[in-house]
Amino acid sequence: MKKVYIETMGCQMNKSDTERMLGMLSHFDYVETKEPREADLLMINTCSIRQLSEDKAYSAIGLWGKWKKNKPDLKIGFCGCVAQQKGEALFKRAHYIDFVLGTHHIYKLPEIIQRVNMGEKVCECEESHSVEDDCAKDYPITRVKSVNAWIPITEGCNNFCTYCIVPYTRGRERSRLPEIIMKEAKDALAQGYKEITLLGQNVDSYGKDFQDKHYRLAQLLQDLNAIEGKFRIRFVTSYPTDISDELIDIVPKLDKVCEYFHIPMQSGSSEVLKKMNRRYDRETYAKIVQKVRDNVKDVTITSDFIAGFPGETEEQFVETLTAIDEFELDYSNTAAYSPREKTVAAKWVDKFIDEDVKVERLKRLNDKVKENCLKSNKKFIGREMEVLIENFENHKGKNVITGRTRNNKIVHIPCDTDRTGEFVNVKITGAKTWYINGELI
Ligand code: SAH
Ligand code: SF4
Ligand code: F3S
Repeated sequence: MKKVYIETMGCQMNKSDTERMLGMLSHFDYVETKEPREADLLMINTCSIRQLSEDKAYSAIGLWGKWKKNKPDLKIGFCGCVAQQKGEALFKRAHYIDFVLGTHHIYKLPEIIQRVNMGEKVCECEESHSVEDDCAKDYPITRVKSVNAWIPITEGCNNFCTYCIVPYTRGRERSRLPEIIMKEAKDALAQGYKEITLLGQNVDSYGKDFQDKHYRLAQLLQDLNAIEGKFRIRFVTSYPTDISDELIDIVPKLDKVCEYFHIPMQSGSSEVLKKMNRRYDRETYAKIVQKVRDNVKDVTITSDFIAGFPGETEEQFVETLTAIDEFELDYSNTAAYSPREKTVAAKWVDKFIDEDVKVERLKRLNDKVKENCLKSNKKFIGREMEVLIENFENHKGKNVITGRTRNNKIVHIPCDTDRTGEFVNVKITGAKTWYINGELI
């Protein structure tokens, strides 16, 4: 048996791809190692969302190149979003790379490894338009040990927000077939996973490319909900104006589907949203969030925001801060704007915001997120909630189990036994910024 180590960066999509690559390799005499120095095959699954993510990938493999000098049989693969974007050029940048594998053909990995082992350098980064390439073979998936199983339902994105590289690294939007998703869900549940999270850049676009125009996210959720057994279902990410009324109506009716929506707003200013090519303004976003809150009791709504988009004025930035308050957003991911190759906004150099202003805005944004997170957590003190336990650890000398409520709040509970994978009922006793405290009932 040979040993493979995969370093995974970026979002859940990449984490899911890594699980699929490990699953395929397990068929071809490779076992996973967590120790890169022991590996015969080193792979990096990269993220390109910001310059910093890309730079991290290059610095991580620098060390691997040095190891190769003493271990000539060592093979190095550069995969994921940076690979898709840069292609062959990566061989020039780092001559010790043996193969470059973009995001569109991960199912070609076994064939690529064979060619690489014969001494060939391989680059596979052609754009795919077919869903077949995304699920060509029924390989097992080597999932990370956890209570949650990731299942991609769409690949790619058609939205072309002016700051974003994802449409270039993941290609056009393609939906995976319902029967494949159902099979993956049933397999994961049979293996003991207690939660299924459906993944897509825009999950509400699911099925737009099918001939049967009536099979969309709402129908998929219904079918998954009908699988027997106790488990939870989540879905991320929701594009604000694509969330259908049908979806909002169905979520509270399906007992396994959790009360959690991730609806990135990106900016609180309608003018900035227009320049970002987001297809909504502040008022429209407000209406959608209100509709979700009116229909889904105790729903947690989270968002993403970018600070310092080209041309963003101080007043427009403040609109982002007020949006977080006004729409009571429970938590938000934040980032300073980073220009990305090929994207429209990267050409607006004369409108770029100074680095120190971006840093200062990001800090104020993070402070606002923290403040609202604590406020949101405090709402649940005194309530009884169901928690799915994910972890057991000794925290500052005390045994603690941690897990999530249906609405995605992290809960810490004192307990001396490992209850990982169990659903427990808890009374909420206190709130911190990033988690809440509870006691077993
Ligand atoms: N499909 C999701 C977002 C996926 S990318 C959506 O439409 O909301 C994840 C997040 O990265 C984005 O929501 C955005 O906030 C951030 N992001 C994307 N490109 C960025 C850039 N060039 N600079 C800074 N942040 C960026
Ligand atoms: Fe990027 Fe916009 Fe697509 Fe999200 S919707 S992945 S931000 S282009
Ligand atoms: Fe994800 Fe980063 Fe690619 S956020 S889709 S891994 S660019």
